[in-house]
Amino acid sequence: MNVTLVEVGLRDGLQNEKTMLPVDTRVEMAVRLANAGLRRIELGAYVHPKWVPQMAQTPEVVEKVLKLRRERKIPKELWFSVLVPNETGMTEALKQPVEEFALFASCTESFSKKNINCTIDESFNRFQVVANGAAKNNIPLRGYISVAFGCPFEGKVSEDQVVKIAQRLLDLGSFEISVGDTIGAASPGDVRSVFEKLLKVIPAEKLAGHFHDTRGQSLANTLEAYKMGIRVFDTSIGGLGGCPYAPGAAGNASTEDVAYMFEGMGVKTGIDLDQLVETNKWLAPQMDHPLYSKVGKVGRLKPLGAVN
Ligand code: HMG
Ligand code: MG
Repeated sequence: MNVTLVEVGLRDGLQNEKTMLPVDTRVEMAVRLANAGLRRIELGAYVHPKWVPQMAQTPEVVEKVLKLRRERKIPKELWFSVLVPNETGMTEALKQPVEEFALFASCTESFSKKNINCTIDESFNRFQVVANGAAKNNIPLRGYISVAFGCPFEGKVSEDQVVKIAQRLLDLGSFEISVGDTIGAASPGDVRSVFEKLLKVIPAEKLAGHFHDTRGQSLANTLEAYKMGIRVFDTSIGGLGGCPYAPGAAGNASTEDVAYMFEGMGVKTGIDLDQLVETNKWLAPQMDHPLYSKVGKVGRLKPLGAVN
C-alpha cells in the first residue's frame, strides 16, 4: 500500500455524537469498514463513562469484534487500537488482546486539563505506567498529539512545543506519532511548517496526520502532508468526529473523501471505495444529522463507456 488510512470513526467519530449506536451496530460498522479494506481500525476508548458516555460500550465492542476475527469472519490481518489514558483504562483494555494502545497528550496545559483532567507532566507520568504495561504485554503504543495546530482555549501553539510533545511520546516507546489538528485550525501552510520542524528530528515513517475539518481544510492538509512524505492518515467514515472538550470542533477528514482523492492520484490505499460508500449509506440514516463526507453521498463517477 502507498498510504494507510487509520479508521477512527468508531472512536473519534462517535465520541461527540448525540446518537448512541447500539453495540451490535458498532460491531457491524467495524465489519463493514474491514470489508471495505480498512486494516487499522480504532475501536473505542477506555475513558471514564461519565466523561465520554459514547465510549462506555468499548469493552463489549472490542470483545465482539475480536471474536469475529478469531472466527475468521473478518480478515485476520486487521489491526485494532483503543485509546488508553491511564492505568485504570489499561487494566480494562488488557482484558482483551487488542493490538495497540493509543496515548493522547496535549500541547497546551488548558486542553490537557479539560480533556484528561491533569497537567501535561502528570499525563506523562500516567502514560509511563501505560507504556510499562504495554511493553510487558508486547502491545505497540501509538501517540497522539492534540491541539498541535491550535488550542480552543490558548489559540496558536508553539511549533517547538509540538516537537517536544512528539519527542516525549517517542521516548515512551510510541512507534508512531499522530499529529492532531483537534480543532481544525490548520491550513496547508501550517501543516508544512509544523511537519518541516517534526521531520528534522523524526522520520516520516513515524508520523501520521490527524486532521479535523472545522474550517474545510482537512483534505488540503492531508494532501500537503502527503507531499511531505507522510503516509499514514487518520480518517473517519462519513467525516464523523469531534472532541467533547474542543468546543466547535468538526469531524475528521472523511475516509471516503480521502480514499477518493488518493485513488484519483493513483495512490494505493487498499480501500474499495464502493463498499465505503455503501457503508456511508447504511450509517447515515442511523445518525441524527446528514453525514459530512462529500464522496460518501454521491460515490465515484461511472467509468468511460459505462453508459451507452
Ligand atoms: P480523573 O477523574 O482525573 O481520574 O479522569 P482519577 O484517576 O482522578 O479517578 C477518578 C475516578 O475515575 C475513579 O473512580 C477512577 O476509578 C475513575 P471513582 O473511584 O471516583 O469511582 N477512572 C476511570 N474510569 C474509567 N476509565 C478510566 C478511568 N480512569 C479513572 N480510564 C480520565 C481521568 C482520563 C479518565 C478522564 O479525564 C476522562 O475520561 N477523560 C476523557 C478523555 C477523552 O476521552 N477525550 C476525548 C478523546 S481525545 C481526542 O479526541 C483527541 C484525538 O482525537 C486527537 C486529536 O484530534 O487531537 C485523540
Ligand atoms: Mg481527533
